[in-house]
Amino acid sequence: MSQKMKIVAAKEAIKSVKNNMNLGLGTGSTVDEFLKLLSFEIKNGLNIFGVVTSEKTRLISEDLGIPLTSLKNVKSLDLTVDGADEIDPSLSLIKGGGGALLREKIIAYNSKKLIIIADKTKLVSKLGDFTLPIEVSPYEHEVTSLKIMDKLEEIGYGGSIKLRFNGVNPFITDGGNFIYDLSIGLIGEPYIIEQLLNSIPGVFENGLFINLTNKVIIGEDNQAQVIEK
Ligand code: A5P
Repeated sequence: MSQKMKIVAAKEAIKSVKNNMNLGLGTGSTVDEFLKLLSFEIKNGLNIFGVVTSEKTRLISEDLGIPLTSLKNVKSLDLTVDGADEIDPSLSLIKGGGGALLREKIIAYNSKKLIIIADKTKLVSKLGDFTLPIEVSPYEHEVTSLKIMDKLEEIGYGGSIKLRFNGVNPFITDGGNFIYDLSIGLIGEPYIIEQLLNSIPGVFENGLFINLTNKVIIGEDNQAQVIEK
C-alpha cells in the first residue's frame, strides 16, 4: 500500500472523530498515519482520550502528544480506528499481521464503532490467503499447535501451522505470548473457525474479527471508498 493511499484512508477516518470521544487506537502502518492526523487535530483544540492496542502505538502516541487512558477508566470506547490484513464483503477481517490481535480484539469488542482503514489490496472475496495469526500461551505451545490442526481436521480443514519468529527467537507479543500463523486455504466458515480455535486451551485469541466492523475505508490514489454495514 502506498503511503499516499494510507494517508487518504486516514484523512477520511479522522472525519468521524468528534470532540470528547474516547478512542481505540489500532496498530500498523495505516493507523500510524491516522495518529499523525489525530495529533494535529489535538494541537488545534480537539479533546479526546485514546486507548492503545499495542506498545508500539503507545510509544508513537506518546511521542505525538495524544492523551492516553485505559479501558477500565472509560468502560467503553466511542470509536476505534484500526487496520486489517484481509477484509471480506461482509466486513469480516483477518488481523494480527503485526502481532497485536489479542489487544486489538479486546479494544474492538469494547468499542461502540469500529472503522477499518486499509488499501484495496486488502479486499478479498473470501478470507484465508493471508495466514491466520493465533496467539497462544508459550506453555506447551507445540502441543497446542498440534491440537489446533487436529481440531481443524475433524471439521475438514487441512494445512500447515508455523510458529512466528523474530530473527532466531520466537516472536513475543505485548502480552508475553507466542503467535502461530495458520494456512488452511480459503476459510468458508470464518465464524466456526474463530469459535473452534478459541475453544482450545492454550489459545488466547485468533485474528478472525467477525461482526465487529461497522465501516471500512479503502484508500485509493486520490479518494476514499467507504463500505458500511
Ligand atoms: C496488527 O496486528 C494488525 O492487525 C494490523 O492492523 C494489520 O496488520 C494492518 O497493518 P498495516 O496497516 O500496516 O497494513
